[in-house]
Amino acid sequence: MHNLDQIVQAASAAFAATDDPDALEQIKAIYLGKSGRITELLKGMAKLPPDERRAAGTAINRAKDAVESALNLRREAIREMALAARLAEEALDVTLPGRGQSRGGLHPVTRTLERIEALFHSIGFEVADGPEIEADFQNFTALNTPEDHPARSMHDTFYLQNESGGVADGVLLRTHTSPIQVRYMQAHVARHSDLATMPEIRVIAPGRVYRVDSDATHSPMFHQVEGLWIGENVSFADLKGVIGDFLRRFFESDDLQVRFRPSFFPFTEPSAEIDMAFTSGALKGRWLEIAGCGMVHPNVLRHVHIDPEKYSGFAFGMGPDRLTMLRYGVNDLRLFFDGDLRFLRQFA
Ligand code: PHE
Repeated sequence: MHNLDQIVQAASAAFAATDDPDALEQIKAIYLGKSGRITELLKGMAKLPPDERRAAGTAINRAKDAVESALNLRREAIREMALAARLAEEALDVTLPGRGQSRGGLHPVTRTLERIEALFHSIGFEVADGPEIEADFQNFTALNTPEDHPARSMHDTFYLQNESGGVADGVLLRTHTSPIQVRYMQAHVARHSDLATMPEIRVIAPGRVYRVDSDATHSPMFHQVEGLWIGENVSFADLKGVIGDFLRRFFESDDLQVRFRPSFFPFTEPSAEIDMAFTSGALKGRWLEIAGCGMVHPNVLRHVHIDPEKYSGFAFGMGPDRLTMLRYGVNDLRLFFDGDLRFLRQFA
């Protein structure tokens, strides 16, 4: 039987030595084919004496089974290897690292607007909004601006076209955020029918405004933040207090001076420009105009049905773009609106 064991071992080794399915079948033929070694042994049994046949048959058949099962195992292994190879080849590696996410950042002017909102919110101001395409009434008339005021000219204000290409009547791109004062007061009055007991109005309104203007310190689109406080006995002193406090908190510094320079706006009386200067640092001593302001003109209050004998208040229109330039030391306003990422990334 020694011989049979050798045959089984030789067959197993030959099977193991190949991983090609065709070669495997050829090796099979050497052992189990028509004239294969095992087949020949089985045929040879006829020549054995009858009393030896049974034992020899059993042994040869066992060897045959062993070769067959070795063959089947190898067939299976080769099939699996082929499958694994194919899977590896066609694999879609979902574990590859992603392309990376670029994190966005807030525009420096947006940061300023959010900061202004937070600071005014902390002293009880609401934040209001209004349309950028505005009616002549809210932008000018209700703000006590006479028909012949130069700000109303085509030269200064973007008007909209009507369908026949002419100037649309009474519609324009708002030239300031002051119309939001008007809209807010109108809505406030509508909400509080008893004007004798209506609550104070304390609101700021940030937004984009448009003027026919363009150079290093003027852009045809820029931002303003309107502020309005209307109540009983609200005075210019309150205005000075609110603005001074705001600026110190905004710049996180006491090293600044604020000055109110007499000026004119049709919708405030008296009116002033607010200038500020730092008392230390690189910008020390340079005055910069940052807002217009004043006590709300009685005519404006009358336009929205608020009694100017009972209520008074102040308004201001601040330039957040300028505050942003000051806060970050930027010297050209246009950088904010060019969309150059090399510039903007510095603030993200
Ligand atoms: N609306 C004015 C401007 O755009 C600024 C301003 C607002 C002045 C409120 C007084 C009161 O120049």
